[in-house]
Amino acid sequence: MKRTRIKELLTTPPQNQTVVVKGWVRTFRNNQFIALNDGSTATNLQIVVDFENTPEATLKRITTGAALSITGTLIASQGKGQSVEVVANELEIVGDSDAERYALQPKRHSLEFLREIAHLRFRTNTFGAVFRVRNSLAFAIHQFFNERGFVYIHTPIITSSDAEGAGEMFRVTTLDVANPPRNEAGHVDYTQDFFGKSTNLTVSGQLEGELAAMAFGDIYTFGPTFRAENSNTARHLAEFWMIEPEMAFYDLNDNMDLAEGLLKYVIQYALTHNREDLELLAQRLQEEEKQKPQQERSDMSLIEKLQFCLDHNFERVTYTQAIDILRESNHNKKKKFNYLIEGWGADLQSEHERYLVEKHFKKPVILTDYPKDIKAFYMRQNDDGKTVRAMDILFPGIGEIVGGSQREERLEKLTARMNEMNIPTHELDWYLDTRRFGACPHAGFGLGFERLVLFVTGMTNIRDVIPFPRTPKNCEF
Ligand code: 4AD
Ligand code: MG
Repeated sequence: MKRTRIKELLTTPPQNQTVVVKGWVRTFRNNQFIALNDGSTATNLQIVVDFENTPEATLKRITTGAALSITGTLIASQGKGQSVEVVANELEIVGDSDAERYALQPKRHSLEFLREIAHLRFRTNTFGAVFRVRNSLAFAIHQFFNERGFVYIHTPIITSSDAEGAGEMFRVTTLDVANPPRNEAGHVDYTQDFFGKSTNLTVSGQLEGELAAMAFGDIYTFGPTFRAENSNTARHLAEFWMIEPEMAFYDLNDNMDLAEGLLKYVIQYALTHNREDLELLAQRLQEEEKQKPQQERSDMSLIEKLQFCLDHNFERVTYTQAIDILRESNHNKKKKFNYLIEGWGADLQSEHERYLVEKHFKKPVILTDYPKDIKAFYMRQNDDGKTVRAMDILFPGIGEIVGGSQREERLEKLTARMNEMNIPTHELDWYLDTRRFGACPHAGFGLGFERLVLFVTGMTNIRDVIPFPRTPKNCEF
């Protein structure tokens, strides 16, 4: 007989039918009641064991974490808190669990502790909920683009270019690092390396994505990206997933509309399809908030926060307007920012982004038209000669969740900017070809997937929303 997932059983009308369930023991009470979980839902299924007819040796092996297969009868539950339960007729121990060493007791473990116990982490209620929500969001993203006729493009993970021009790349090489071949000038001779040149892990699929957009019109990428920036924060990972749509014939306004539409669509999807998980996570967040001083507590629950995002238009403001707001703020005057806002041109820190979103506008904000000197070479230059058609979307509790722009489609302007920024045009000639053969206005953005999951789940640290986090000095498992 085929097994039925617990999520499905919990909504199946009980008619004394025979069912097969398989999962892992969460708890075993009074030699009689097993709380079984199979990962399909946070709710456990109660299994009633016929202890009089079950050998003592078998009962002893029903320990927390053990894998079981049960054939039994689905009946209406006598106990409260559950609609159905299964009376076991046959019980097989599929895999024993070393109960003495099994660290997951019904009490609460810290999230940091669980990061180090990889096999337990997925089996906790919190992480079960986080990774089911993560799965839903990924699916919703594909569905959103698919419904709109976008083509999903797989851009390379190994590349020889630095798309963001920020130089924060992990090198990929097969050379002997202890004794690399050297050329006459004494530099490492990458012509002898695997690819015959210097290569790295990609920081973004955008440049390759732009080529595809110039053929398919609307495309998106969704894959892993890598940044060797030494940022040990609750919002940075060295390996993270990014969604990068790129659209021909779009200007910046079209780009903002699409990004806002995407965010609202996927948040709505999670609210509809992951209610139980989100309620569990809301509860967790509420308990965490109680540890904070009164004035730092959020006055909205997780669900309210998500709903609020759907109900309001994101505020669209230019960088210049934002600087004025920040400079004139009491926060700045009272020197409460670590980095005080003095003049136009400075890059915004996350404390400024969060001030704008959480204190000033009190809703998601899209900042546009940043100074060209703090943005990448490919952004479309404005006529003022100082700013570019950039957009960053800032979210409460997160800061920047999306970064994008309208692209510079004019070849001369683009190469002039690359020269100013010392970006070798010959190495990106394949990219510049898009500006030679049918260039058109186009735009795109990058959505950091983990930052999205962080927002939707209400978790506090980005390491807790990716199954195996990679951060400076940490690459376990
Ligand atoms: O703003 P970024 O650097 O933009 C790009 O890479 C562009 N090529 C995107 C595009 O226009 N196609 O990164 C985009 C987003 C950020 O807004 C942030 O959400 C996320 O990627 N991100 C990170 N997430 C986790 N850890 C990091 N170290 C991140 N760096 C960026
Ligand atoms: Mg950015």
